[in-house]
Amino acid sequence: MYQRITIAASRVARPDAVAVTLFASPSQLPQGYRQIDRDTGGALSALLKRHEFAGERGEVLCLYPAAGPAERLYVLGLGERRRFTGETLRVAAAKLARSLHGAQVTSLRLMIDDIAESDLVAAKSRPGYAQALLGRAMGDGLSIGNFQCDQFKGTAAKKATGRKPDKPSSLTVELDPRYREPAQRGLDIGESVNLCRGLQATPPNIADPAYIVAQCKKLAKQVGLSCRVIDAKKAAQLGMNGLLAVGAAGSSPPALIALEWKPKAIPAKLADSHGRALIGKIRNPTASTAAPAAKSEIRNGPVLLVGKAVTFDTGGYSIKPAENMDKMKYDKSGGMAVIGAMHALAHLKLPLHVVGLIPVAENLVSDAAYRPGDILTLYNGVTVEVTNTDAEGRLILADALAYGCKTYRPDAVIDLATLTGGVVVTFGTLCAGLFTTERKLRSSLFDAADFTGERVGHLPLWEEHRELLKGTHGDLVNSAGREAHPIQGAAFLSHFVSADGKGDAMDHPPAGGWAHLDIAGMADVKKDTPLYPSGPTGYGVRLLVRWMEARCGEK
Ligand code: BES
Ligand code: MN
Ligand code: ZN
Repeated sequence: MYQRITIAASRVARPDAVAVTLFASPSQLPQGYRQIDRDTGGALSALLKRHEFAGERGEVLCLYPAAGPAERLYVLGLGERRRFTGETLRVAAAKLARSLHGAQVTSLRLMIDDIAESDLVAAKSRPGYAQALLGRAMGDGLSIGNFQCDQFKGTAAKKATGRKPDKPSSLTVELDPRYREPAQRGLDIGESVNLCRGLQATPPNIADPAYIVAQCKKLAKQVGLSCRVIDAKKAAQLGMNGLLAVGAAGSSPPALIALEWKPKAIPAKLADSHGRALIGKIRNPTASTAAPAAKSEIRNGPVLLVGKAVTFDTGGYSIKPAENMDKMKYDKSGGMAVIGAMHALAHLKLPLHVVGLIPVAENLVSDAAYRPGDILTLYNGVTVEVTNTDAEGRLILADALAYGCKTYRPDAVIDLATLTGGVVVTFGTLCAGLFTTERKLRSSLFDAADFTGERVGHLPLWEEHRELLKGTHGDLVNSAGREAHPIQGAAFLSHFVSADGKGDAMDHPPAGGWAHLDIAGMADVKKDTPLYPSGPTGYGVRLLVRWMEARCGEK
């Protein structure tokens, strides 16, 4: 794959390739393509005349015109104009990236002149929104297409393909100036997405909890995040008995990783007239004497992101069936998405104080493993009867959430976890399950989902769901069977989230709310999809980053 893809700051005179997008069954050439058509001796109008190019979504055609600025002319299908969304362009760009690399193209002019802002059905009336979305979709797509998990291919693979190992190369992309900035942003975030995908794909015999800890330390140093690790010994002192129980049989001890991004200065436009940050943590001692700004505007704590990282989930004594158990290497995906989002945050230097917590453990079976029937006292003193050792994610998240709320007093909390098979029964592999009782948080996550194509579907969380989880000898059980079981997961977690580590999300929620995303259906794809080849997706990185950008007031 390309080492790097960058957007050119100016026009590229003779690119290796030019790519144009076309909607289905084009009858007329868009105005913007007339010049390239003339330069290539009418290659595009000839194509239109033949009616051979259907322009289906995801279709990629390569022409080799005898004349013109480039040796190759790619035509990318966008499907029906009235069905167009940002995702269509994302898919086209991803497909293109894969073809380009195969052809060893190192410079590209990408033209999307047939797309009008009005084609974006979902475009908000905000000025600049469509431009930002289209540019970002191209950057997203190019970087998503530029991922291949071949680090574990061995000698047999080389023999079979007979291909020489890839030479390191980069790709420079020329775009209409108005798309350059958002596209470059998409590529930057894409690096974090692919970092997440690489970690997701790393198998459990390599990526055990100790490996994830080591990777976090290394990454944090590279991008300027702070990284603090609560190891098993410290976790025992702190009473994190959920994390310890789940990880007791693991091939290395469990840990809680804390990545933190605290920008040095919050820019003036994000501060109120008294110099206090409207966004991010404020610790301005002079502010206390000034008149308070509107309460809803001032945010007093950081954003807290929490991601489940079970490096392998056998189910423990409540063991899983053999079929598909190998896919449980993806049970660390929530945590890897948080790592990816933190990486992007530092790379982009967003003016927002964010803490990312990653509880990491391996759920194996051994004489040290926890049992069904165990009663655990978790970090905030809530006791849990283990009815099913396969409902382990909520136990490690519970300790991380309670610790995070108490330590950082976050304004808003979002957790991501491959928590239940039930959410896959509910939504299939089209969206994550979103649980939140906070309207503003819900709508801001829906906005981020619209923008990035990383979709979410809302599910309820009521007091009655929490009643399902009442324990007999302990406060709670960790699983009460199949009834509403994705919601049980969220209901369980609600006991460990609060504004200050006391109480729970139902009676004392963080000011900016708490959202739980069950990403079990989204972390990986079993078969190739338009956007992803089978394997890890990095789901959540783009969604979280976009949500945080919006929180910083970006378009
Ligand atoms: N990691 C699984 C959930 C999962 C299942 C993720 C399929 C991806 C694909 C989780 O730890 C689990 O085992 N959940 C149980 C919960 C049950 C015991 C309450 C489940 O969904 O069956
Ligand atoms: Mn499990
Ligand atoms: Zn699990």
